[in-house]
Amino acid sequence: MDLEVHQAEMGYDTVDISPLAAHELFTYDPGFVSTAACSSGITFIDGEKGILLHQGYPIEQLAEHCNYVRTAYLLLHGELPNDAQYQAYAGDLAERALVRENLSKVIESFEQSAHPIAKLGATLYALAGIYHHEIDIRDQKNRYYVACQVVAKMPTLVAMCYRHGQGLEFLQPREDLDYASNFLYMLFGEVPEPVIVEAMDKLLILHADHEQNASTSTVRLSSSSDTNPFAAIAAGVAALWGPAHGGANEAVIKMLEKIGDVKNIPRYIERAADKSDSFRLMGFGHRVYKSFDPRANVIRQHCQDVLATTNRTDPLLDIAQALEQAALENEYFVQKKLYPNVDFYSGIIMRALNLPENMFTLIFALGRSSGWVAHWNEMLSNPYKIGRPRQLYSGPKQRDFPAG
Ligand code: SDX
Repeated sequence: MDLEVHQAEMGYDTVDISPLAAHELFTYDPGFVSTAACSSGITFIDGEKGILLHQGYPIEQLAEHCNYVRTAYLLLHGELPNDAQYQAYAGDLAERALVRENLSKVIESFEQSAHPIAKLGATLYALAGIYHHEIDIRDQKNRYYVACQVVAKMPTLVAMCYRHGQGLEFLQPREDLDYASNFLYMLFGEVPEPVIVEAMDKLLILHADHEQNASTSTVRLSSSSDTNPFAAIAAGVAALWGPAHGGANEAVIKMLEKIGDVKNIPRYIERAADKSDSFRLMGFGHRVYKSFDPRANVIRQHCQDVLATTNRTDPLLDIAQALEQAALENEYFVQKKLYPNVDFYSGIIMRALNLPENMFTLIFALGRSSGWVAHWNEMLSNPYKIGRPRQLYSGPKQRDFPAG
């Protein structure tokens, strides 16, 4: 049996295994460690070299020279916008930032103390109920407007979920503020300082997309049944919530608070390296990066800048930096190639921006919404099949129902 090899533009080539089923064979790859589920040109990661490119542009350069709206345009269209395209896109987002009154009622149906990401997921399903009959996923222009709806409404919804948890009234988006400023205004009720806007905008860029991670793969898999795109994004939020994925930023802060003092670090490093102990160093390790996560490097530096410009110190940053140093010198972490990932330092910045821990993954979801819709649009712009993996069956052989 000959299997075709698809040549990659960069990174690993792929073996087309689809003919195997005709030969009564499946491949077995729990967690999809060696499986390319699709072809995509949006993001490229070289885990050995710590390289992350969005449509060919290094994340470090986008974080330095771009803003989030421009990055979202790049992910969706494949090219950076010229000024006219940028203004048109920013305008398309601004005019879709408002949400209907009944979305407030969806959020208000929750206990105030409920985790805000549960509220966010519910509002996305409510949007699926509102924008269902008018959506034609086969029409590219319609897909563009759906993509704008998601990226435009996420800041409003995330801010509403936060304010409900704080017992504060909701604020409508303003027409005179840019994307990140409007988000911060809707969160805190005041026009933010430029340094805070820059910090938030950079965070959103660093969370925008990351190839076929668990939540993006969930959006793609659910979209492969031609489901409502807002429902598919809600599914992505569900996958992101887990502490093994986007929920790690919240878990890192809880871990750092539990460590409490740099003198306790050796004990926690030992626990993380002890197979009999379920404790893991949250914010460390990655399926793809077997060297540093370039986003963690940018965020680490960004932490120091934000704390300096907000005249704040955070004892958890000292613990985080000492923990990183200790782990990088520990034989277990070196041997397993475990480095800080995007979630290790991001919580420090979000604390400096006065966000509570339970909001951290919503900020991640907000940033990632541009990546999710870019992958949704890319998949629907090309031929695709419904995702339907097979299995290695491990159950009982056929047997008859007991007589009598
Ligand atoms: C994100 O995929 C993406 O791109 C995700 C993301 C994105 O932008 O979308 O980058 C965002 O989700 C970052 C990851 C956030 N999660 C965490 O920080 C949680 C802590 N990390 C781990 O749970 C783990 O590293 C994962 C989930 C991130 C990756 O898990 P893998 O690829 O399945 O790796 P594994 O569990 O097989 O680990 C390999 C070995 C294991 O030991 P052995 O079984 O080989 O003896 O490394 C060990 C693990 O026990 N290990 C850790 C560890 N992470 C892995 N040991 C201690 N502490 C850790 N954090």
